[in-house]
Amino acid sequence: MSRVPEPSVFLVVDEAKQRTRERGVELIDLSIGSTDLPPPEAPLMALREALSDPRTYGYCLKSCTLPFLEAATTWYQGRYGVPLDPRREALALIGSQEGLAHLLLALTEPEDLLLLPEVAYPSYFGAARVASLRTHSIPLRPDGLADLKRVPEAVLREAKVLLLNYPNNPTGAVADWGYLEEALALAKRYGLWLIHDNPYVDQVYEGEAPSPLALPGAKERVVEFFSLSKSYNLAGFRLGFALGSEEAIGRLERVKGVIDFNPYAGILRLGVAALQTPREVTRGYAQVYRERALGMARALEGALALLPPRATMYLWGRLPQGVDDLDFALRLVERGVALAPGQGFGPGGRGFVRIALVRPLEDLLRAARIIREAL
Ligand SMILES: Cc1ncc(COP(=O)(O)O)c(C=O)c1O
Repeated sequence: MSRVPEPSVFLVVDEAKQRTRERGVELIDLSIGSTDLPPPEAPLMALREALSDPRTYGYCLKSCTLPFLEAATTWYQGRYGVPLDPRREALALIGSQEGLAHLLLALTEPEDLLLLPEVAYPSYFGAARVASLRTHSIPLRPDGLADLKRVPEAVLREAKVLLLNYPNNPTGAVADWGYLEEALALAKRYGLWLIHDNPYVDQVYEGEAPSPLALPGAKERVVEFFSLSKSYNLAGFRLGFALGSEEAIGRLERVKGVIDFNPYAGILRLGVAALQTPREVTRGYAQVYRERALGMARALEGALALLPPRATMYLWGRLPQGVDDLDFALRLVERGVALAPGQGFGPGGRGFVRIALVRPLEDLLRAARIIREAL
């Protein structure tokens, strides 16, 4: 099979959006997880200052990333109480998506087996293709979590990597510590790498999101990804970091070493400032999504079957029986609302849609009326 991924259904929706705009119809675009919330001021200021500092203009090798890695490990220790070595257990990334795709290349050989939920962030499927991996889709439980108990023993024995993401895009499902302990125990028993993609760590509506890397004995098996995109509304700046197993981080660093030269030093300074954002600020962002999620869930009651909103900037809803998600998304775009069709999120996504809560509540409620009419 070719390493080159198939074109995604999101491009089909994007073309439809363009046609709608050309007809002069105002579009409420809830199809992409690109927030309307502004970033905190301090990181933007740090970047402005960096632009006037010629010391930031050159290539940025490992030593230049250290202040950012120290900020990242300090942030992690502050949140989870676990110290990490910024030189060996942390790596700066050009966004967590980049890091994850390269980590698969770093940890596997072609034809190795990757376990991932049947509904997942689309880039995972493409990254698996780029790394020439076979995949096994784990069915979801009714609460939206991957049902680890339903992975056959023979599959576990053969697998190399288990890839999870909680709080989850697109379902909004949140794992508790017990679930992640079970995932880590599985990884240990079968010698798997556990990759946990955690860009929505700051978007739980109540309490704190757990982190498998903080569990006892996790450091040999776990790599966890964090992103500045969602926590601080800085998606366009392309900055994230990986934390975890020294061996895996070292391999990722060597793969990335032939591909990129790290983010711009000024962006790393922006990252240092962002990671010092008071927790109340990020909790405030999560509360905005919570209000939107609850308002939208009420407005769509009876039309879409939704999981109870607990986290993230998304709602994940099942369409009525027999309604094709891509057809529905395309019809809806003509009426002025763009959603993401579920089939773009993997084999378990057919018949679902994802609504990104990236507009003020009044726009969302207008979208909800249009969705109801279209159904
Ligand atoms: C689960 C998940 N991982 C990774 C990303 C990409 O993050 P980044 O901007 O850090 O590359 C996203 C973006 O939507 C996401 O939902």
